[in-house]
Amino acid sequence: MSVRRLHPEQPESFAFTPANSAWAEEQIAKYPEGRQASAVIPLLWRAQEQEGWVTRPAIEEIARMLDMASIRVLEVATFYFMFQLQPVGSVAHIQICGTTSCMICGAEDLVAVCKEKIAPGPHQISACGKFSWEEVECLGACANAPMAQIGKDYYEDLTVDGFAAMIDRFASGEVPVPGPQNGRWASEPVSGFTSLTDAPVERANASIYLATELGETIKRIDGTEKTASDLALGDGGMGRVIKLRGRDPSHSAQPRLRHAPDPAPKPAAAKPPAEFVAKTPAEEAAPAAEDKPTLLAEARDGQPDDLKKIKGVGPKLEGLLHALGVFHFDQIASWTEKEVAWVDFHLEGFNGRILRDDWVMQAKKLAEQEDA
Ligand code: FES
Repeated sequence: MSVRRLHPEQPESFAFTPANSAWAEEQIAKYPEGRQASAVIPLLWRAQEQEGWVTRPAIEEIARMLDMASIRVLEVATFYFMFQLQPVGSVAHIQICGTTSCMICGAEDLVAVCKEKIAPGPHQISACGKFSWEEVECLGACANAPMAQIGKDYYEDLTVDGFAAMIDRFASGEVPVPGPQNGRWASEPVSGFTSLTDAPVERANASIYLATELGETIKRIDGTEKTASDLALGDGGMGRVIKLRGRDPSHSAQPRLRHAPDPAPKPAAAKPPAEFVAKTPAEEAAPAAEDKPTLLAEARDGQPDDLKKIKGVGPKLEGLLHALGVFHFDQIASWTEKEVAWVDFHLEGFNGRILRDDWVMQAKKLAEQEDA
């Protein structure tokens, strides 16, 4: 973790745009009198969305608005690496996760791409002025490693080539659809969903959906964008997104707002190979069919052995054994370990008796006596 300090060069002043100022007042009003400091993170984030980074004048202005000591706001801004304390690229600041999962899965290669395509060092702005980058700690998307946060969104399951191409697309004005870049929608198995398979696949990642729906992935908040209430009233935006969170089954195709890229077509969730399909606990416990011992349709010569001579076997168990096709001591005496497990699984209510009372050994002796 790097030392986080304010940039040595700071602007003279900071002021929220009128729209952002009104938004900030709304946030502050959410908290009871004396608790306005609770709005510090949303206001810092809004200031960053407006300016690109968090400046000292912004910190001081937010401290004034929230009636806080500016050192307290500075503490928050320097603690969270979501806040940029120095100028960033005009298009995107790319945060590469370098923690364990991502490191194992290729984060260092992504950092190499940043060094090559953006700038040799973190927090340096590219020659074109559009990009900057840094390595950050775990961003909580470890199952989709390696990944990067760009703007508000996560880009996951990255490859070197795909990530390099993604930077080029950002540079040309596109906004690649966030989320996994390998065809997954969330963190489901690569082979496809194994549970919740009846849920519409396009709703599996609300982050992707929100980003494409709202279209503000890397866009700065300058007061010209639609508000949530505009979206809810006008074009089915936020209202529909709220429904999405509730998995509204009536939700269907979505008109996309400005700045929203068309998402790359994602492959439909394929039926996973059987070996990837999770078994139910009962299936998990069931012995394999090939472990079934030799069973008989009926007793030889119509004369079953008296299985009740086996200690622990009463009339009920004898009836169960007959129903399975076990009538003779020599049948039981020949069971292998796996065959014992197979029979035991099918003796519902009496599981564990075979081993507990060592039926196999008893049956061997009884079979020998019968032979004698
Ligand atoms: Fe990268 Fe957790 S290790 S997101």
